[in-house]
Amino acid sequence: NTGSLWGGRFASGPSPQLEALSRSTHFDWRLAPYDLQASRAHAGVLHAAGLLSDADRDALVAGLDRLRAKVAAGEVSADPGDEDVHGALERLLLAEVGAELGGRLRAGRSRNDQIATQLRVFLREHARTIAAAVLDLAEVLATQADHHLGAVMPGRTHLQHAQPVLLSHHLLAHAWPLARDVARLRDWDARVAADSPYGSGALAGSSLGLDPEAVAAELGFTGSAANSIDGTAARDFAAEFAFVAAQIGVDVSRMAEEVILWATKEFGFVRLHDSWSTGSSIMPQKKNPDIAELARGKAGRVIGNLTGLMATLKALPLAYNRDLQEDKEPVFDSVDTLEVLLPAFTGMVATLEFDTARMAELAPQGFSLATDVAEWLVREGVPFRVAHEVAGECVRRCEQLGVELDELTDDQLAEISPQLTPGVRSVLTVEGSVASRDARGGTAPARVSEQLAELRVVLADH
Ligand code: ARG
Repeated sequence: NTGSLWGGRFASGPSPQLEALSRSTHFDWRLAPYDLQASRAHAGVLHAAGLLSDADRDALVAGLDRLRAKVAAGEVSADPGDEDVHGALERLLLAEVGAELGGRLRAGRSRNDQIATQLRVFLREHARTIAAAVLDLAEVLATQADHHLGAVMPGRTHLQHAQPVLLSHHLLAHAWPLARDVARLRDWDARVAADSPYGSGALAGSSLGLDPEAVAAELGFTGSAANSIDGTAARDFAAEFAFVAAQIGVDVSRMAEEVILWATKEFGFVRLHDSWSTGSSIMPQKKNPDIAELARGKAGRVIGNLTGLMATLKALPLAYNRDLQEDKEPVFDSVDTLEVLLPAFTGMVATLEFDTARMAELAPQGFSLATDVAEWLVREGVPFRVAHEVAGECVRRCEQLGVELDELTDDQLAEISPQLTPGVRSVLTVEGSVASRDARGGTAPARVSEQLAELRVVLADH
């Protein structure tokens, strides 16, 4: 079979069962453009090392360019006899430029350094696409926050009413992790960029006087691997990418869970736009948050990609092992999943309609102003231990009487503690409560406006 890259020492060809197990073209063919780009750079260093004449280099480059056009046009593809994308492209190159010239290109490289390089280039490209999509989502959250400055809602811990907060504050709390995810992708990219493995050969480096730095520069890297074994065997770059992808999945999923809750009759905090929600085949009244549910579901999938990949890596001796062929499908899947999920999720968030009246109505309920009572007492000179007890007593009294904190009479307040003078009423409003939390990072309207401006600077920087 002309697509095989080995065979000289074998008396018989591979069994069909082995070929079926070994074949990876159904998932690695998408690396074909990256393989051809690297081959072009490789022809350059072979020429620089005196291993290809000018004419041979030009003929090879022209052949590779023709092949790239055919691949892009879908005119050529892998054959069942091809083991992987590298073998398939060599077979096609030989058909393009002849066996004599085409056979020269493989000198000084191995599929081990080829695949380690190409996966890096592929992931670097998609990291940029994903970062842009994450930024879009963060910007849409910032826009929603901007439109609702001033609106209040019940802030929760343990899913129980805790303290009132601004809706904008809550929305921005989802945007900051996304900004960090983008920073993670950038940090990751700088690390990967410094480590081009091309020229590492099978594991030990090349004896042919080829310059790995030249190939690295041509492929957009900032440097080449310091250690050829590490260059061909390390996949921490893939695992780290899978982690950042999983973290993005988790960050989106946490938001998704809230959208799902908020869209219930019981919460009634949001209405989903018709174009970004789904119906039921039997219940005509239904409007379902499928995008959010799929986001929550896909998070499990991208976490699985990370854990699966790490399980593959955990006991591999140096250097290359064929197990490493299993590195591609998980990261490809994480890329494909996020690239479809993020635009849909962003569209859903952009078109969410908030019922701010409903949120405002619920904000003071569940005695969410009890902390404000305690802190007011502290400002009056009461030790917090005592203040906490007094405020707790107020809640107990309210529960007995079936009223809210601000409905306690002056007499009832004084009965609980002489220190509870009518002055406490100044903090028994949601507006007073949020306005009082005015240190950096707090939910006071002025601080949230500053926070929004700060986030926008961070997002613009990315
Ligand atoms: N297709 C392999 C992979 O994806 C690269 C080929 C290396 N094969 C080998 N026998 N050294 O990792």
